[in-house]
Amino acid sequence: MKKVLITGGAGFIGSHVADRFLLNNYEVIAADNLVTGNIDNINGKNIKFFNIDIRDREKLEELFKNEKPDYVIHLAAQVSVSSSVEDVLYDAEENITALINILELCKKYNTEKIVFSSTAAVYGIPEEVPSREANKTAPLSPYGLSKLTGEEYIKMYSRLFGVNYVILRYANVYGPRQSAHGEAGVVSIFNDKIKANGDIFIEGDGLQTRDFVYVKDVSGANYICATEDIKNETFNVSTNTDISILKLFNTMKKYSGYEKDAFHKEARKGDIRNSRLDNNKLLKNTSWKPEYTLDQGLKEYLDK
Ligand SMILES: NC(=O)c1ccc[n+]([C@@H]2O[C@H](COP(=O)([O-])OP(=O)(O)OC[C@H]3O[C@@H](n4cnc5c(N)ncnc54)[C@H](O)[C@@H]3O)[C@@H](O)[C@H]2O)c1
Repeated sequence: MKKVLITGGAGFIGSHVADRFLLNNYEVIAADNLVTGNIDNINGKNIKFFNIDIRDREKLEELFKNEKPDYVIHLAAQVSVSSSVEDVLYDAEENITALINILELCKKYNTEKIVFSSTAAVYGIPEEVPSREANKTAPLSPYGLSKLTGEEYIKMYSRLFGVNYVILRYANVYGPRQSAHGEAGVVSIFNDKIKANGDIFIEGDGLQTRDFVYVKDVSGANYICATEDIKNETFNVSTNTDISILKLFNTMKKYSGYEKDAFHKEARKGDIRNSRLDNNKLLKNTSWKPEYTLDQGLKEYLDK
């Protein structure tokens, strides 16, 4: 039985990745310090859980030594753009130094492949829409920069030490178990307010567009990229469609029966107007394809 280590396995995306590997009969190990994750996301499942901080080199080494995972799915990270601006050093410790810890151990224990969670934030203001993997990267936040730096370290470990990798750059992920405080939590923020019949605020005119991808399509991409014969590539993970925040609100309103109108508040400074990721490279090189349109994903999510 093959073994997968999921860092950040008690988090939003990580717990869905765990579900996907369990479905395919893998032995699943989750390492998480629960800083933003929630043990309820994995409780009662056949997962070996380690409550460790991946910045702790010794504990992490003990885990690798004892478990020798075949694959590492690395999701544990500082995930908030605004927090990265407030505490640049912490963001770098989490997203760069801790990643190097993981890479050292992948090298030492001959891990077959590491799959890394990167982000659309590496593109900054897109050179073209939709963004393609070969486009210019110019992050606007310490978070985008630390993820991009992480990508470069991974490629360096591949060139110097033969560590195999797949880098996945996610668009805006949404779905069950997402906290309303995440990096791109607009769907979960709206959902929270809908459930409580609270007021919903849209930033700016609401005509800014985003590419929303359902978390099960993201966990599918992680599973496929770990287990299929593909390595040392970078892929966008998205639905390659865009929707305005206003239309998103109206769609969620329609499916949930929420009756209020949205209020508008000041636009966020430096907010990117349009963001969409081209997913053709992933479609061409692997068996992955998105199984959820935004409508299907929202319906499933709002039903929960
Ligand atoms: N949600 C999105 O839209 C989105 C978009 C692009 C990229 N990502 C990336 O996907 C990954 C998962 O994000 P998420 O949305 O599931 O967020 P999340 O906060 O739910 O998951 C992150 C997990 O990592 C854990 N963690 C953080 N620091 C740790 C440490 N030092 N040691 C051990 N565990 C630690 C947290 O407790 C949490 O469970 C992150 O790398 C994030 O940057 C997310």
